[in-house]
Amino acid sequence: METWLLLHLQCFLIGGLVDSSPLTSASRPGSVSTQVGLQVVLPCSWKSHVVGVDGSTCHIQWTNPEDTVFEQQGVRTWQADNFEGRLAVPQDQLGSGNCSLIISDTQIGDAGSYDSFVVVDGVRAKTRVFIQTVTLLVFDHKALQSRGSGEDWVLELHTRHSVRVIFQGRNSSEWTDLWMRGDTNSERVEKHPHKEQLTIKNLQSLDEGLYKVLDKRGLAISTVQLTVAGSSKSSQVEQVLQSRMATGDASKSSCSALLIASLLVTSFQIPHV
Ligand SMILES: *[C@@H]1O[C@H](CO)[C@@H](O)[C@H](O)[C@H]1NC(C)=O
Ligand SMILES: *[C@@H]1O[C@H](CO)[C@@H](O)[C@H](O)[C@H]1NC(C)=O
Repeated sequence: METWLLLHLQCFLIGGLVDSSPLTSASRPGSVSTQVGLQVVLPCSWKSHVVGVDGSTCHIQWTNPEDTVFEQQGVRTWQADNFEGRLAVPQDQLGSGNCSLIISDTQIGDAGSYDSFVVVDGVRAKTRVFIQTVTLLVFDHKALQSRGSGEDWVLELHTRHSVRVIFQGRNSSEWTDLWMRGDTNSERVEKHPHKEQLTIKNLQSLDEGLYKVLDKRGLAISTVQLTVAGSSKSSQVEQVLQSRMATGDASKSSCSALLIASLLVTSFQIPHV
């Protein structure tokens, strides 16, 4: 019975976490969603909007409310500095009518509305033909993870734009710096030489808590709640569970089940900072 309650509770909690993930909002019309660090495609199709334009010389323009972010005509391309080369429209696709914009290593700051246009050379001047608006939603990563005491643990940084990792111990209200980009590796924390990953070595109960990966603006790229099994609280929960399973006495144990439930509720809450 307690097992059922726990499973139900965990599904409920994990369900709550999944609800705020990008998958549920992907169906919003005219919008595309992704998570930080991933590649996303903003759809665009120009053939039905303009006639008499040759695919090989088609001039496409993508803008956001502030500025032009990307332009391409034939083999010539231009993109705004703040995208640092992360934008592309494959030329073979453009020629066949597909003006979709590929954004690589998506950042929180990329979120917003994008318009696409085809620029047509007229007799006297160029005119812009509007194609469509796409809203890009960018979500941070959230995860609950559990490792054994003494194990090494890999924390994903997700993007080369992650600059800082902060940590809040399970009992603490303070955030402390765990890692900054450019730090030399220590005995405890090691950055992978190529991949965007940190290894936290030889986990101890003190490593239990919340880890936040931040970008240079201090926005959360990822929040991970880590539980270290074999540390004090987890082993208590395990012991209680094991003894319940052994006795199989449901009526006497409902109180402990509630206690475990409330422990889990508090330990699974991820506050927004
Ligand atoms: C259009 O181009 C994008 C980016 O290259 C690609 O992901 C997408 O599948 C293409 N769409 C079609 C209909 O070919
Ligand atoms: C957390 O708090 C509990 C009870 O308040 C205490 O027993 C435990 O030692 C503390 N753990 C850490 C890591 O400070």
